[in-house]
Amino acid sequence: MSTFTGEVLAWGVPRLRDLPWRETRDPWAVLVSEVMLQQTQVARVIPRWHAFLKRFPTPTACAAAPLGDVLREWQGLGYPRRARNLHATAQRVTELGGFPHDLDGLLALPGIGPYTARALMAFAFGLDAAVVDTNIARVYARQAGERLTPNQVQRLADDALPHGDAWVWNQCLMDLGAVLCRPRSPRCGECPVADRCAWRGDPDRADPAVGSSGVSTKQARFEGSDRQARGRLMRALGDGPVGRDEVAAIMQRDTVASDRLVDALLREGLCALDGERLRLPD
Ligand code: ADE
Repeated sequence: MSTFTGEVLAWGVPRLRDLPWRETRDPWAVLVSEVMLQQTQVARVIPRWHAFLKRFPTPTACAAAPLGDVLREWQGLGYPRRARNLHATAQRVTELGGFPHDLDGLLALPGIGPYTARALMAFAFGLDAAVVDTNIARVYARQAGERLTPNQVQRLADDALPHGDAWVWNQCLMDLGAVLCRPRSPRCGECPVADRCAWRGDPDRADPAVGSSGVSTKQARFEGSDRQARGRLMRALGDGPVGRDEVAAIMQRDTVASDRLVDALLREGLCALDGERLRLPD
């Protein structure tokens, strides 16, 4: 085991944050947590994760529900495509009789990319997979002291992975990134791997994590965005069908913009048309 790995584990294991999805190895529950955490902060995800799993405890239960019900349960989390993909994955997993356990099989599921596939391998199946989320990518870029390419960061993550301990290792490294190696004001004084870090929070050097592969950039402004307008309509549709002539007012946009946004939602399968009325899909 590399010293880096040993130091991170020694720091992380006794401090591992107590999060509800860390108490399950059920791939469906793990998947729902990972998809929610891609867009929403931990504290807001916790109650929504419990509620979603209460409503759809298994892929089969989710697959049997109309997509509209899944979108309604997703309400307020944003990025409804993710709920649509989750529903499609639930259907595929039901057909297959269970989740694939290998990377290629997981990557073939709707909406599951390299991060989520490896998260399922490590967090549900305990298999040797090194996940790279935004927190982890930031740690590696700072340690290296330079922006990394996708291959470089995955390679560093693969090299650091302690065989047989993927579950605890990935969780510890995520916590290091979230708690100490934060985007702004990193707490280098408490960091177990600061002495081997090329950057060490040096205020005179640009943060190497900015623009490095896998490190998320600041979310685009929500106020006035297409996302905001789409969200307004999706929320209204959750309460029942809406006439096409009402959409512009609901979205608080002009009709050129609202027509364009409705066309996109229809194309993405996030709403359906009954004559002149829009509704959530079946
Ligand atoms: N973000 C993404 N996955 C996470 C996890 N398993 N624990 C905490 N934060 C996360």
